Formats: sequence, C-alpha cells, structure tokens
Amino acid sequence: MAKRKSSFVCQSCAATSTQWAGRCESCGEWNTIVEENINSGVGAGPKSARAAGVPTQLVPLSGESEDAARIITGIAELDRVTGGGFVQGSAILVGGDPGIGKSTLLLQAAANLAQRGNRVIYVSGEEAIAQVRLRARRLGIDEADVSLASETNVETILATLEQTERPDFVVVDSIQTLWTDRVESAPGTVTQVRTSAQAMTRFAKKTGAAVVLVGHVTKDGQIAGPRVVEHMVDAVLYFEGDASHTFRILRGVKNRYGPTDEIGVFEMTQLGLKEVSNPSALFLDQRDKGAAGSAVFAGMEGTRPVLIEIQTLVAPSPLGTPRRAVVGWDSARLSMVLAVLETRCGVRIGANDIYLNVAGGLKISEPAADLAVAAALISSLSGAPLPADAVYFGEISLSGGIRPVVHTPLRLREAAKLGFASAFTGQGSKDGVLAGLELLEFSSLAELAGRIAASRPKSA
Ligand code: TYD
Ligand code: MG
Repeated sequence: MAKRKSSFVCQSCAATSTQWAGRCESCGEWNTIVEENINSGVGAGPKSARAAGVPTQLVPLSGESEDAARIITGIAELDRVTGGGFVQGSAILVGGDPGIGKSTLLLQAAANLAQRGNRVIYVSGEEAIAQVRLRARRLGIDEADVSLASETNVETILATLEQTERPDFVVVDSIQTLWTDRVESAPGTVTQVRTSAQAMTRFAKKTGAAVVLVGHVTKDGQIAGPRVVEHMVDAVLYFEGDASHTFRILRGVKNRYGPTDEIGVFEMTQLGLKEVSNPSALFLDQRDKGAAGSAVFAGMEGTRPVLIEIQTLVAPSPLGTPRRAVVGWDSARLSMVLAVLETRCGVRIGANDIYLNVAGGLKISEPAADLAVAAALISSLSGAPLPADAVYFGEISLSGGIRPVVHTPLRLREAAKLGFASAFTGQGSKDGVLAGLELLEFSSLAELAGRIAASRPKSA
C-alpha cells in the first residue's frame, strides 16, 4: 500500500503547504489551514481510459459546430442570467448566503423544467425528502414530475443517476455536504468539495445533463472553501440580497455560454420566488420624493436599464477624520467625486460625515452613477431637494467634466416609461432625444452644482 501522505490545505484558497501555520501564506487568511490526506484528490483517481502517450486528434478551428443545446425553465429572470437556458452538458455553480433562497429557486426551476417535459432529479444533501416535499407543497409545485433523493455520497449519487434514464437536469444541494470515498479528508474540506465537484462536472460532460451545484458563500462573499470549484464549472451564478429586503438578485459571475453582466430580479414571497420583470418600479417603490439628498440613477444592468435611488446624507462631523459610510457603491469612487466637488466646483463638503446608500440593497459598479451621486451629495449639503421627476447619469472626470456614457437611449426610454420628465447628463447624448423627456446636458459638474444650489428653498 502506498505510504499515506498528508498535507496542509488552506480551506480558503486551496494552497498546500508541508506544515501547519496560523495564517495562509498564499491568501493571507487566518485559521484556514487544515491537515488533509492527499493520497487522493485531483489526478489521483483511477487512471483515465486513455493511456498516457497515445496522441489525441487535432482538428481545424474552422470545423462544424452547433450551438449549445439549452433547456429553458420558462422563468424569464433565470433564463436571462444563464444566457437563454441551462446548457446541456454543462456544470453550473449557484452560490449565495445561507437562507437567501437558493434551494427555493432551484426547486422552482426543477419543477418548471419537469413540467416542460425534461427529466429532472433533485438531490438534497441538506434536507430530508419530507422537508423538500413540504417546501414543494407550499410552493404549489408538488405535482411536478421531479425525482428526489436525499444523499451526500458522490459515488452513491452517481450510481443512482447512472442506473436511471439519462436526466436532463440535476440539482445537487449543496456541494459542501458532498463527500467521496476517493479522498480521505473530512466532508466539507477543500479536497472533498473539489473532488466531488469534479466528479459531478465529469458526469455532466459525459451524459449531457445540465448539473447545478449549490454552494454556500461565506460572509465576505467567497463561495466557502470551494473557490476552486469556480474554475471547474462552466457558469457561476450568485444569488444575492439581504435579509431585510424581500427581493433577490441572481447575478452571472462567469459564463462560458452567455453574458456575465445580466441580472435576474426576484421577490421572495409566501409562495416562493416571484419574478420581477420591471425592477425599476420595485427599486423606486418606497422613494421619499421630497427629501434632499436623494437622486434617481438611470443605470444599466447587463442589457437592461434599471432605475435606482441613491440616497446620501451629509452631516457636520464632530470628528477630526469625518466618517464615510458607503453601502452598494465603491467608496474609492465616492472619494473621487468628493475631491472633484471640492477642488473643481468649490463645493465645501469634505469636512462632513458622509453616508451613501443605494436603495434596496443593490450594488452599483457603473461609473455612470457618478453624476447621480454628485447630485445627491450637493442636494443633501444644500438642503435643496432634487426634482422628483428627474434621472441622473454620467461619468465624472477628474477635471470636473461630465462624460456621456453608453446606452443613453435605453436609459432615457426606461425613465420615460416610468413617468420621469427630465434627464441630467453629460454633453453629447443627443442621440437619445425622446418625446416627453427633457434632456438637460451639462459639460461640467460645476455647472450642475450651480443649478442645484440655485434651487435651494428660500427659507434655508
Ligand atoms: P432557502 O431556499 O432554503 O435558502 P438557501 O437554500 O439559500 O439556504 O430559503 C430559505 C428562506 O426563504 C427561509 O428563510 C424562508 C424563505 N421562504 C419564503 O419566504 N417563502 C417561501 O415560499 C419559501 C420556500 C421560503
Ligand atoms: Mg438550501
């Protein structure tokens, strides 16, 4: 028998070392190193059928190819994120915080796919059969022809899948509960998760089934332990949202067969996840229209325009180093906007505490949000509410100029659709002129700042 080898594996980044340490040298995480037996793991399994040294066939790049076959769930928000349905023979990782609704979403997807005539198998390693049935009954989808199993051993799962007719869609909930006989590490360790995911991915490729692996995410946003799994699968989708809001966002992070910048928006209700086909209306629902410090940003999420409220509060600071608290936006970007306001527009704002919140828990990464943020900040500082029927978008440059951004017509159309009357943006957006929507173009932030400050209520 081969000598047992053990190694110390970081559970966060999967780096291996020969001795234990409190901190991983590779990723810098503390207390993530665990001793694992690695007489096993990737590449240590049974020899592949093809013997070493036998050449493979080379083919020309220009050969025949078919579009990937897809299975469509009919849940439009989900199909949008996958790029038009789950690709047959692909492995998909769906990550998210515990309790965010991953199991609910996938059970609903499974039921829909089954109703559309696909063979669907749902393997739960976390819940007993009775629990899954109960959930399905609550969701009103217990009549769907979905086969269930409650199992965590990879070999057992594969044997079960292979003995039945080839499935079209398999859900494994969750990857962290899986364990395989092939490695000796404890369940939940990186080696276990990686080897299990590899086996499931291989099953997808071999049979042409779409296999979804559910993965829990740690609080800092990493898929716990199995970050390595991300490289192995064809698509990674994150299910996000926070516990205090009912809506959830499914976001593509990696997709070999589709776009990665699309989002799907859902609302968690008593009857499961409901699609939100008009997210702007939802994000603006609770808006306090007369308040200073709030601006509506006409943003883009993938190919879809989304209107989002940006709230700011500028308050005199008792501290030597004023506070900056940012939720849903990049704090470095906020510092830049503040610096431009201060130096280029003569707006004295830097000594204040500044709070910025993207309403609804959405995260914005577009530079086009600069202008909305700047407008909200000036409004809060001067106490002048912005017009409630205006949207803002544009990128601010360090010189204080406002640059036009892409997809202006789409943003304007969305704003007009939701009853907005004017749009504040950079110069050169002429292509987006729309009936019923006034386009206000500013070449510099100073010009916009002057206009907002001039609208300050007389009493203030
Ligand atoms: P779940 O899908 O179990 O989350 P995950 O698999 O990501 O851990 O969702 C759990 C939460 O969703 C739970 O707090 C209850 C809530 N929920 C509803 O609000 N409505 C429903 O119809 C269902 C099934 C769950
Ligand atoms: Mg779950």
